[in-house]
Amino acid sequence: MSGPDLRRAAAARALDLVEPGMRLGLGTGSTAAAFVDLLGERVRAGLDVVGVPTSEATHAAARKAGIRLATLEDLPQLDLTIDGADEVDSDLRLIKGGGAALLREKIVACASRRMVVIADATKHVATLGAFPLPIEVNAFGLAATRIGVAAAIERAGCAGAVALREAPDGSVLVTDGGHRILDARLGRIPDPERLSALLWAVPGVVEHGLFLGIATAAILAEARDGRAEITVIGSLA
Ligand code: A5P
Repeated sequence: MSGPDLRRAAAARALDLVEPGMRLGLGTGSTAAAFVDLLGERVRAGLDVVGVPTSEATHAAARKAGIRLATLEDLPQLDLTIDGADEVDSDLRLIKGGGAALLREKIVACASRRMVVIADATKHVATLGAFPLPIEVNAFGLAATRIGVAAAIERAGCAGAVALREAPDGSVLVTDGGHRILDARLGRIPDPERLSALLWAVPGVVEHGLFLGIATAAILAEARDGRAEITVIGSLA
């Protein structure tokens, strides 16, 4: 069982939650892409749903898959968002934004009655923070915002380098919203709620990748005896 197989298995379990007429938030990343792919198959077989994508990349993939699309302006309240995560703990707290889509992902997830995370089980951690925490910031005043972010991190009892994210071609990465991303390599985040509050208080911080009290369930797939075994944290109801 490879990583893509496990991601597809988690996505397939999430597909069981989709009912005709649902308004769906469509996440970003390779696991969410597997879900969009499977959902497209169902749509082409006659399922009627409408999706709100969380990134330009997901918009393009969903459109190609034949999924009817809308924006939050058209549909400000959604039934269910399915998205991946970079880390998930046993209290359904997440780190997201490895794909730089955290702002739209958080807006869409919070507009949804339920948010279900799909991931391979390696994303399940005891303590958040091994994955660098993405912090989306305004381009204006970036150097000053960076100092404020570093101070917030220290006040939250964390430590670690903060790096400006680059695109694969070496240029500074620009998000779909025209912002920049600072990645904070913290190792562990002992109090995510405190760090979240402190980061939000820094002028120039647009959003951060801590998703706290947002996910309602996580579907985790791991290889066991040559097949994908699914574990669920939280409630899929
Ligand atoms: C996108 O910004 C992220 O939040 C993704 O959801 C996260 O990086 C998970 O991506 P994979 O499914 O590719 O691991």
